[in-house]
Amino acid sequence: MKTTISQVHKYVDQEVTIGAWIANKRSSGKIAFLQLRDGTGFIQGVIVKAEVEEELFQKAKGLTQETSVYVTGIVRKDERSPLGFELGVTNVEIIHEAVDYPITPKKHGTDFLMDHRHLWLRSKRQHSVMKIRNEIIRATYEFFNENGFVKVDPPILTGTSAEGTTELFHTKYFDEDAYLSQSGQLYMEAAAMALGKVFSFGPTFRAEKSKTRRHLIEFWMIEPEMSFVEHEENLEIQEQYVSYLVQSVLKNCKLELETLGRDTSKLEKIRAPFPRITYDDAIKLLHEQGFDDIQWGEDFGAPHETAIAESFDMPVFITHYPTEIKSFYMKPDPTRADVVLCADLIAPEGYGEIIGGSQRIDDPKLMKERYEAHNLDAEAYKWYLDLREYGSVPHSGFGLGLERTVAWIAGLEHIRETIPFPRLLNRLYP
Ligand code: 4AD
Ligand code: MG
Repeated sequence: MKTTISQVHKYVDQEVTIGAWIANKRSSGKIAFLQLRDGTGFIQGVIVKAEVEEELFQKAKGLTQETSVYVTGIVRKDERSPLGFELGVTNVEIIHEAVDYPITPKKHGTDFLMDHRHLWLRSKRQHSVMKIRNEIIRATYEFFNENGFVKVDPPILTGTSAEGTTELFHTKYFDEDAYLSQSGQLYMEAAAMALGKVFSFGPTFRAEKSKTRRHLIEFWMIEPEMSFVEHEENLEIQEQYVSYLVQSVLKNCKLELETLGRDTSKLEKIRAPFPRITYDDAIKLLHEQGFDDIQWGEDFGAPHETAIAESFDMPVFITHYPTEIKSFYMKPDPTRADVVLCADLIAPEGYGEIIGGSQRIDDPKLMKERYEAHNLDAEAYKWYLDLREYGSVPHSGFGLGLERTVAWIAGLEHIRETIPFPRLLNRLYP
């Protein structure tokens, strides 16, 4: 029976054939252990010299790392293996022999691994990270579909900026200038006026000269946008969504979290509601903790975010930032115009901001003033103003950075491992 490693539980004590690669091999004079991987999982194959033909035993002993094979064997229950099963190998058919695979089980430096990212992805650790990333994407679609959202795809090539012009990737669009999308938000606002509640999931680009463990040049963002939803309800949807992601990974990626050595007790606690702290109070908290470097009106850096997050064991919303340091489209607090109805969601354990969101300006007059204050070309943003001119409604939305969320939930030191082929400062290869 042809099957995959993920399905062997259906064939206990039966003979199966699996297309696989040799991830690792150990052998002595009497027994050979093959660590097999097929993309769906990892299983140990066992060959006892005394129980098989000499030719098979010698063939198994000679298998090199990453050689591709069709392996046939009897599925056996095995309590000691993480999978719960092993394979008593009865035959090995070599498909292609791999010679001198560069990534050996010994330790390699980060640069070496990054240069070989196309091969590094095959490792058990990277396999686990990609499975967790996939689960977060799957759970995202499930959450928004179950809650009445429609998936809408905003363009990648755009004529305007959503998040300020300093980090735009420029390109030519025939004779015109164009930019790679920093955020689909402005288009999602138009979609929300047509479809009510919408979400997008796509790549976004920031030409940020930041070389930190939290920054990618190309990253994927989930951007929901909701008509008739105001600030507080926006936060409630965010905390439900993030709780749903964490609980889905805990439920469906047990083996992967174990492989990564993730402390899941910290994740099990993550359930809505999440604490909220205003920017004003966050500044006070930082001053109490001895951060004299930050003044009201300045944006938080990573050390500030981490210090605030450490006061809570849940993700925490920092709300009502100064109008001056936030995006042009955010709605001012009706009770005080110097702060906006926004929130950043800061993940626990020092993983930083995973969501940025806000209620949007719905008054066309105020929006026009913002264009002027931010030196935006009113002509280019005319379509965006139209959303306020024809049946304007209160509306809100947010953007969740997929890779930062993967880093947090999987417990990874650096964002480079959260995406198959990271685009980093000075890295476009492979
Ligand atoms: O806070 P940001 O810039 O918000 C927006 O783009 C809004 N237009 C979203 C919206 O309201 N629809 O980015 C949102 C999130 C951040 O919280 C972070 O998780 C992630 O995107 N992010 C990055 N992730 C990796 N590398 C980078 N360089 C990132 N920049 C932002
Ligand atoms: Mg932000």
